[in-house]
Amino acid sequence: MTHLFEELTFKRGPAIKNRFMLAPLTNQQSHHDGTLSDDEFKWLTMRAKGGFGQTMTCAAHVQKAGQGFAGQLAAFDDKHLEGLKRLADEIRRQGSISSCQLYHGGYRCPSDVTGLQPTGPSDNEESGSRGMTRDELKGVISNFIEAAVRCEQAGFDGVELHGAHSYLICQFLSPDYNQREDEYGGSAENRARFLKEIIGGIREKCGADFQVGVRLSPERMGVYMQDMLDLARGLMAEGDIDYLDMSLWDCFKEPEEDAFKGRALIEWFAELPRNGVRLVVAGNIRTPQDADRVLATGVDALMLGRVAILHHNYPALLQADPKFQPIELPVPRDHLRAEGVSESFIDYLQGMGRFGITST
Ligand SMILES: Cc1cc2nc3c(=O)[nH]c(=O)nc-3n(C[C@H](O)[C@H](O)[C@H](O)COP(=O)(O)O)c2cc1C
Repeated sequence: MTHLFEELTFKRGPAIKNRFMLAPLTNQQSHHDGTLSDDEFKWLTMRAKGGFGQTMTCAAHVQKAGQGFAGQLAAFDDKHLEGLKRLADEIRRQGSISSCQLYHGGYRCPSDVTGLQPTGPSDNEESGSRGMTRDELKGVISNFIEAAVRCEQAGFDGVELHGAHSYLICQFLSPDYNQREDEYGGSAENRARFLKEIIGGIREKCGADFQVGVRLSPERMGVYMQDMLDLARGLMAEGDIDYLDMSLWDCFKEPEEDAFKGRALIEWFAELPRNGVRLVVAGNIRTPQDADRVLATGVDALMLGRVAILHHNYPALLQADPKFQPIELPVPRDHLRAEGVSESFIDYLQGMGRFGITST
């Protein structure tokens, strides 16, 4: 085994006790108004108790208009503080560090969830969304910063900015979706301005130890490898973030673009200079062999999604038995219930199609 159980320090804030981080996982368990439910509290704190060095929430919206799914956690109002505080306190009590993933869905916010016309960097015919005015865009930047301040007030160790999967930050980064003609569109530098102003604002308003991560997609989702490699390199060189979370979907797949084929996605990012910023990755890491193989590329830590749904205590299981093999899909509903996954989360997973669940 590699150094899966070694501590990992960050430029700022607390170290994590091992290399296991719970990936952000939308679970549709929150109350209608975005406040934390007992189900979501149970789902997350069981993972903290199960040995994850860092426990991250699902994507939490920073504006009512930025909600992409029903039953999603929110951080846009002081009414969300109490639940966030309860969560942060218990995650800490379990010896895990906490992060709240902050996001706005942009043109991927269905009107039947928000009651509003979706907005994004520019008009988007496919989704019927309209481009944000400058005031609206500045307002969303402020909302991200305010949500981070709220999370810090609640006791979270940090936040992760969701810049992946073609949600709003990713839409701004994308030359396909972002057709703006002001300083937030056009060149790669302009397209990254939205994200960088959010990071800068959080650094200004939050304490010196507050941890900030950024999640990016390397390709597809309207973004392209060269742009994302340049952005990743820049973010790490500037050092205003503490970790970069590359959402690769499958760590060892080759890039889609011909110019980058011949090496796995992960290798392109693992070789970038980090300047003390940690590089973490997500994407189909299931077995201890996968975990070792990913760390052997030089990446600092693992973000685990589906395997953490299947086993709330995956890190503890691996520590007890380095040959542990996770349960295969499909799994019975009862297995997930016993792992602290509520009925609404099970229904959501079933609807995704990628997660085989049998009827009992
Ligand atoms: C049910 C489910 C919900 C997800 N929700 C989010 C989310 O809220 N934010 C996010 O950045 N990624 C989300 N993802 C992506 C995961 O964080 C992770 O990157 C992806 O599942 C790949 O990791 P895995 O193979 O370990 O599951 C979600 C994935 C799944 C399966």
